[in-house]
Amino acid sequence: MDYTNGEWRQSMRIKLDVNNMFADNVGIEHGITRTRVNEWIEKANDAHTALVRNREKGNWGFMELPYTQKEVIAEIIRYVDDNKNRFENIVVLGIGGSALGMIALQRALNPFYYNDNVELRNGFPKLYVLDNVDPEWFGEFLEHIDLHRTLFNVISKSGGTAETMSQFMIVYNILKEELGEDVKNNLVFTTSEDKGNLIKIAEIEDIYTFVIPENVGGRFSVLSPVGLLPAAFVGINISELLAGAKYMDQICQKQDIWRNPAYLNALLQFLAYNDGKMISVMIPYSSALKDIADWYAQLWAESLGKKADRNGREVFVGPTPVKSVGATDQHSQVQLYIEGPFDKVITFIEVEEFRKTIEIPNVFSSIEGLEYLGGHTMNELIAVEKQATELALTDNHRLNCTIKMPEINAFTIGQLIQFFEIQTAFTGELFDVNAFDQPGVELGKEFTYGILGREKYKNMKERFENRMEKDSSLII
Ligand code: PA5
Repeated sequence: MDYTNGEWRQSMRIKLDVNNMFADNVGIEHGITRTRVNEWIEKANDAHTALVRNREKGNWGFMELPYTQKEVIAEIIRYVDDNKNRFENIVVLGIGGSALGMIALQRALNPFYYNDNVELRNGFPKLYVLDNVDPEWFGEFLEHIDLHRTLFNVISKSGGTAETMSQFMIVYNILKEELGEDVKNNLVFTTSEDKGNLIKIAEIEDIYTFVIPENVGGRFSVLSPVGLLPAAFVGINISELLAGAKYMDQICQKQDIWRNPAYLNALLQFLAYNDGKMISVMIPYSSALKDIADWYAQLWAESLGKKADRNGREVFVGPTPVKSVGATDQHSQVQLYIEGPFDKVITFIEVEEFRKTIEIPNVFSSIEGLEYLGGHTMNELIAVEKQATELALTDNHRLNCTIKMPEINAFTIGQLIQFFEIQTAFTGELFDVNAFDQPGVELGKEFTYGILGREKYKNMKERFENRMEKDSSLII
């Protein structure tokens, strides 16, 4: 059975367990009560109305991605079929919302050693996502690969981000030296249809281009060609991914907060934040989901961290996301979460069936302290460790919730992505901030442009040059 079967879809539904957000479980001093949630129903209804209105008006394009991309999928699959055998590597040049989603998809859905093993790749190229301008990393990488056998997917919605454009310029120059006029055969762009420099270059150089819809923001774009093209290149079933997103989208269209997991979680996180629990920790108990926590951290931070509300009033809001992974971080961060300040909400992600079962053998069974492990599986161990941490947190009055995934597959990952995106948009409504802009990020970009001599931003250069001198006695 697969995602086209209704029964299978039902069996793969991800669920949200919020028991430990409530006073009954964690105590009245820190826990939230049902009465308090119900007091917010009117505000939640307004947020729901805003979501419906923005969906209808086509303002928040991410909501429509599971429904509107039949032709895009066909084009991507055609393109991948035509090109995948020509390349040993596909390299994503992009940053932030143009990179983190694909990194998460690759780690969640492909074998850990995909790049190292030709059989695991099953005819698909290796994938590299270079989301930084670290000269050591980038330089070493260029020395490491065969350029002739590499397709560079340059992804930038604005077509102007300094990191991505500089990477592109370096690669273009080297490709031109190596391949001459054939340079366009090793490049594919993913960018805005009519804005920015990348689309201009695509036209001049006749480079194949996939479009990021204008109404889809960078960090909400993983289910557009931003993530779908590289995902298809590494053999991920993109139709299943979108089917999962659609399935969750339909669950999350319910107005009733008690039946809509994205809304309920948004409201609980919002109430916790108002109670001083301003740090939002995500701990998947799965190494494959580690980068989902990273992707989510950007989504949550850039969308909700805002100086002003929508009326221009200064509010300085936003939960601080922290990414973590279980069981690893039980041995680094969990001590703080259980006994430190009451300033956090913990979100676990639990996987019910792993794709492998590893038995722990009955060796050293006469040694006290090891005898209890033999005969169990690693699967049981990680599940028990999660339950144990959950209980330790709950007993210590720490708010926590769990997202339960029956398995990790393209369908459940699609659900997870849509769930978090809707939750983020809804939380933006509760905070009354614009979850779809990022003026702080833009400010940093503008300083960079100015300092590096971009004419249009010379005022930023002046601000930089007139900044306060550093006191050398404080640099020790
Ligand atoms: O979410 C966002 O909008 C940002 O994180 C962008 O994705 C990031 O700044 C990269 O922008 P661009 O795709 O325009 O290069």
